[in-house]
Amino acid sequence: MDISAFENRLKKRAKHIGKVAKRWETNAYRVYDRDIPDFPFVIDVLNDLVHLQEFKTSKADELTRDGVFESVKKVFGVNDQAIIFTERKRAAGATRYARIENQIVETEITEGPYRFQIIAGKYVDVGFFPDHRKLRKHVAKIVDSSSKVLNLFSYTGAFSVFAAGAGATVTTVDMSNTYIDWAIRNFKLNNIPTKGHRFERLDTFKFLKREFELGELYDIIILDPPTYSKSKKMDGDFDVLRDHIPMIEQTLRLLKDDGTLYFSTNHRRFEFDHKALECIEISTKTNSEDYPRNTHRTWEIKK
Ligand SMILES: C[S@@+](CC[C@H](N)C(=O)[O-])C[C@H]1O[C@@H](n2cnc3c(N)ncnc32)[C@H](O)[C@@H]1O
Repeated sequence: MDISAFENRLKKRAKHIGKVAKRWETNAYRVYDRDIPDFPFVIDVLNDLVHLQEFKTSKADELTRDGVFESVKKVFGVNDQAIIFTERKRAAGATRYARIENQIVETEITEGPYRFQIIAGKYVDVGFFPDHRKLRKHVAKIVDSSSKVLNLFSYTGAFSVFAAGAGATVTTVDMSNTYIDWAIRNFKLNNIPTKGHRFERLDTFKFLKREFELGELYDIIILDPPTYSKSKKMDGDFDVLRDHIPMIEQTLRLLKDDGTLYFSTNHRRFEFDHKALECIEISTKTNSEDYPRNTHRTWEIKK
């Protein structure tokens, strides 16, 4: 396999996306995503780290991997310690990738005026999804100190930081202790007092029911669920394709009459059930060119 073709491609993309990222005001972006089929790797720049993920197929062998490592070092001018390597392979019948033990490295990335903690090599994902930068910026632009924002499936709270930083009062919901703690750390990292904001370690569906009973209403709701989720903390499992309409309907009950719900998914074959609900797809406005392959889709939904 011709490593020079890979290296040239990487060099070109690194230069181009590196430049565009300055406009996005970030040092977290994707440079390469399986552009050449014989090199099934994904490469992200995360501040001073390069996150190199190998998608296990029969195509990549040891030699290819060694060559890719050398190219990454050359193109980004980094040493071995700055390269976080993760192997991802599909578990039989599963929709998620398994993680293989690896070195764990922490850093902070920046996006706009904010900083976020990254932990690479520990979990499947690093704690931040750069692909949603445009929606985060948009949310920060449309809220002010009178806004109430709800961030469901919040993960490490990146949307919450943008909304709270812009003055909104934010409720952050995730059923994982790890991620709620991480979201709180991200608030602290940005000197945003956690007082006055709510952090709910709870299953989204239980939260939606309880919040409706309490009569709480929100101006802006972010609903960015995983493709599939199952846990002891939930009553059943969640499948975005099967369950998006009832989930959105339940969420809309918490939206003010003039509020806006942003629903997003990374499901590759997602079909919005338009017969059931009216919405506007805004994906072309929320995606950036460093994710040509792994694009999310986003809809704006009003009551
Ligand atoms: C795809 S991430 C969401 C990404 C996030 N919106 C962001 O922009 O960074 C999925 C998150 O959903 C959480 N999660 C999965 N099932 C859940 C449930 N039933 N209730 C609450 N959180 C859940 C996981 O713990 C994880 O943090």
